[in-house]
Amino acid sequence: MPDMLVNLYASELSALAKKAGSVSVGVRAALPPEMYLVVEWVREHFSDNWASEVSVAFSRQPIACLIAVENGRLLGFACYDTTARGFFGPTGVSEEARGRGIGLALFSDCLQTMKTLGHAYAFIGDAGPVDFYRSAVGAIEIPASDKGLYQGMLRRPKNNPEHGEI
Ligand SMILES: CC(C)(COP(=O)(O)OP(=O)(O)OC[C@H]1O[C@@H](n2cnc3c(N)ncnc32)[C@H](O)[C@@H]1OP(=O)(O)O)[C@@H](O)C(=O)NCCC(=O)NCCS
Repeated sequence: MPDMLVNLYASELSALAKKAGSVSVGVRAALPPEMYLVVEWVREHFSDNWASEVSVAFSRQPIACLIAVENGRLLGFACYDTTARGFFGPTGVSEEARGRGIGLALFSDCLQTMKTLGHAYAFIGDAGPVDFYRSAVGAIEIPASDKGLYQGMLRRPKNNPEHGEI
């Protein structure tokens, strides 16, 4: 999967913010006491790797993790400046809540925050849904011949959960 680049000064950003504004679910920065809940939720719905990244997002001030909440239920999350400076992600929406604009709202709010913090561009590392990012803000794929930041990353092997492997 490629890394992608987003121009935070592109006109598509205001169109995205307008679209995100009509989403009924609330998006806000996560609070420190919510860390255990959000990390557990991300581990359960996505992966240990992403749960680790969310832990890092919570170690920062302001907390670099936005969450989508409806009636006291966590429906999605997104991090910025976490995997590396200038990176957007990881992000995810629970399966049953997908297709309601929540992913776009989280993406939009993170990009606006990154712009406010002084970034001119955002990177999406190892972007899975490339079309989602392309159509949301005109993100472009970064041509690269290797895995960049993720090259050689340790992962938990399926048959030996106690030791990581490349
Ligand atoms: C990608 C993800 C966050 C999108 O969340 P979502 O809340 O379902 O997305 P939205 O409802 O905001 O989608 C808005 C638009 O994007 C489109 N879209 C959603 N997921 C898409 C995908 N995987 N690929 C292409 N387009 C997608 C929708 O069709 C919709 O288009 P429309 O506005 O023309 O109707 C969600 O599918 C998810 O959690 N996926 C698994 C985790 C993941 O891949 N995260 C990204 C890692 S880089």
